[in-house]
Amino acid sequence: MKPILQISDLHVEPVGKLAYARANTARRMIELTEWLRAHEEEYSAIVVTGDLSCDGNIDSYHLIDAIFNSLSKPCFMVPGNHDRRKPFLKCLPHFCPNVFSEENLSFSAEVGDYQLFMLDTLQPGIHWGAVPDAVMDWLEAELEKTDKPTLVFCHHTPVKPGMGYMDEPFGNGERLIDLLAQKQNIRLCTGHLHRPVATLAKNKLAVVTAPSVSLQMLLDLTPKGGDEFVFETPGYAMHAYLEDGWVTHFGQFPFPSDFSGPYPFVNTINPDA
Ligand SMILES: [Fe+2]
Ligand SMILES: [Fe+2]
Repeated sequence: MKPILQISDLHVEPVGKLAYARANTARRMIELTEWLRAHEEEYSAIVVTGDLSCDGNIDSYHLIDAIFNSLSKPCFMVPGNHDRRKPFLKCLPHFCPNVFSEENLSFSAEVGDYQLFMLDTLQPGIHWGAVPDAVMDWLEAELEKTDKPTLVFCHHTPVKPGMGYMDEPFGNGERLIDLLAQKQNIRLCTGHLHRPVATLAKNKLAVVTAPSVSLQMLLDLTPKGGDEFVFETPGYAMHAYLEDGWVTHFGQFPFPSDFSGPYPFVNTINPDA
């Protein structure tokens, strides 16, 4: 079966407004759509792991809705810390069907031979993520029901990446890692770090992070790192289930990148506080 394509951290602003006064993320959506159409025979579904909008504004969600509605493959979305749950659910309900509740947009989906879980880790007004107890209980019960190769997607990463400001807490992270590590043929796929990152959490669970479609985080592994972006080549993750289990490939989008920066991220949490 064809792989699952993961893209992340679009940070879309409405047409005419630059993200962080520098990045034309609305135009990036046009480039992205062309690429997704040209490569649609290479993947079976798309998962977008959060920070779809730069500040949860409704115009960005309308733009995202129009773009992803024009594609032929199934597409699933979860919010990140830059998103706002209400407009997200109002504008994009067909990309997050049968959500856990209006307060947590987690859901599951079957795509052919694969089982997917999309976890909503957004905490309004907070930069870092969490999975509520009730959602963990639901996930635990759902995982019991399936033997299919499984991918679990969420925006935040429950493993500290050694990138200064991005070394954040993750609510119920230990429970999530312990639960997923009990399963065979499972992988946790995240975003938020704006870089391709691969780890083995507690030596037992593979966690992979997709780079951003729009802005890459400066690779600064010091205590002051994790707060600036650069215009490096954007990318994606492709998750294939093969003879030996899940294999994640990181690809690059052929979009113009001048490698300028670093520039500061500003207003990095959603305005729902
Ligand atoms: Fe982001
Ligand atoms: Fe984020």
